Amino acid sequence: MGTNSEKKFYITTPIYYVNDRPHVGHAYATIVADSLARYARMLKKEVVFLAGTDENSQKTVDAALKNKEEIRAYTDRLAGIWKSAWEALGITNTDFIRTTEERHVHTVKEIWRRILEKGDIYKGSYKGLYCAGCEAFVKETDLVNGLCPEHKTKPKYIEEANYFFKLSKYQKDLLRFYELNPDFVVPAGRFNEVKKFVSEGLEDISVSREKKEWGIPVPDDPNHVVYVWFDALINYISAVGIEGWKKHPADIHVVGKDITRFHAVIWPAMLFSAGLPLPKQVIANGFFTVDGVKISKSLGNAIDPLEFDAKYGSDALRYFLLREIPFGEDGDFSLQKFNERYNADLANGLGNLVARTFTLAEKFGSSWKENKIDEEVQAKIDFLKGRIIKAVEQFKFHDALILIWELVAFGNNYLQEKKPWAPNAPDASHIVFSTVVLLDNIAILILPFLPLASQKITESIVWDDTGTLRTKKPGILFPRKDAV
Ligand code: MSP
Repeated sequence: MGTNSEKKFYITTPIYYVNDRPHVGHAYATIVADSLARYARMLKKEVVFLAGTDENSQKTVDAALKNKEEIRAYTDRLAGIWKSAWEALGITNTDFIRTTEERHVHTVKEIWRRILEKGDIYKGSYKGLYCAGCEAFVKETDLVNGLCPEHKTKPKYIEEANYFFKLSKYQKDLLRFYELNPDFVVPAGRFNEVKKFVSEGLEDISVSREKKEWGIPVPDDPNHVVYVWFDALINYISAVGIEGWKKHPADIHVVGKDITRFHAVIWPAMLFSAGLPLPKQVIANGFFTVDGVKISKSLGNAIDPLEFDAKYGSDALRYFLLREIPFGEDGDFSLQKFNERYNADLANGLGNLVARTFTLAEKFGSSWKENKIDEEVQAKIDFLKGRIIKAVEQFKFHDALILIWELVAFGNNYLQEKKPWAPNAPDASHIVFSTVVLLDNIAILILPFLPLASQKITESIVWDDTGTLRTKKPGILFPRKDAV
């Protein structure tokens, strides 16, 4: 992304269903998108960062009924919960879209018309299975022992009049596009699955539901509502407007692995049909389990990211999620692992380096006129910096953090070895100065991932107009926590 010379950078998260509150799995994709948005801002890009809620689903109606609330009031309340959760976690989205908003309804109708005019929507009837959990029309062959493998529920057999979208028509265009854009889907393994799926042949898909009271009415046919996925994908255009999308489509859609096909097959085909440009990249995250078990409402194991924020701070949550699993792979969230990593890497690692360095800096008067640091420290920074940037550009966030923490460990060892606190230690002041500059570099490198810690460190180090470096001691960054 850094090599792309364009000024604007447009990134999106999935829009989340409002049938429930956010859990740690949802926070993950949002934190990934936020880290990339912050990184793009560091590259001086003009960032449009879109998050939002997917509200026209049957799940919304069911959840409202269960809560004995009027549907719209329920939807407003839940959208508020999602929006404020991202605010609490310090997510820097520049827009928040709700699919019940007029700007979205209007755009969906316009795109529908365009696709209809192109001759790619026709009326037919659907006889088959529908999984309400996935909000998807499914085939027998998708099931395991007759159940949806994702939701472990039996899909409903439905027979209804539907509008169909000519997805099959776009097989060749899609395959050609994939060939021309070898990084369209990341990780590569997911892209191979997509290519295989498309090359095996595509069937037309249903894009409406009959006689549903909730959803966006099909233009000129109020007996139908637009199929929720067909509606939801368009949110990425609604936020910037059709003209805005034409000028600059999304650079990156961050999605979960379960919804890659919607974004890498159906969405591009819809855009081909509507005569609109395609997004540049779809990056798919893996799934978090909790203590080895799939996160599910019925099991009640959905970890609330806000509880972690309250106990450990949002930086710690971000660090754990990004550091724990390589992007694209699955991983496990456990309180014990979280606590261990927090104490080892944040409290004893970075937190300790910060506390020691600034305490020592005070001892040496908190002010330096020097501008050259110890060659050994400079060499270490130079060696790792390029590799860290490369890792971020390739979405290898866990590698980037491992490399940054090599610098942290180096700093702690460096102080331990040189012992600038010992009486008559040679070059003691220069050593402390070098460690302060090392921390200044670390603060910049962690900015996309641990923005609060980064800011605290940066605010403690000031280079004034005369080229003098001054320090002031920050508070404790990461207080140690008892084992759990
Ligand atoms: N509404 C659709 C997305 C429409 S985008 C045009 C949807 N919503 S969702 O709320 O069910 O899921 C949103 C995202 O959360 C998906 O990308 C999904 O992969 C992700 N996750 C849900 N559970 C997760 C984990 N346990 N771990 C990681 N990501 C998870 O799908």
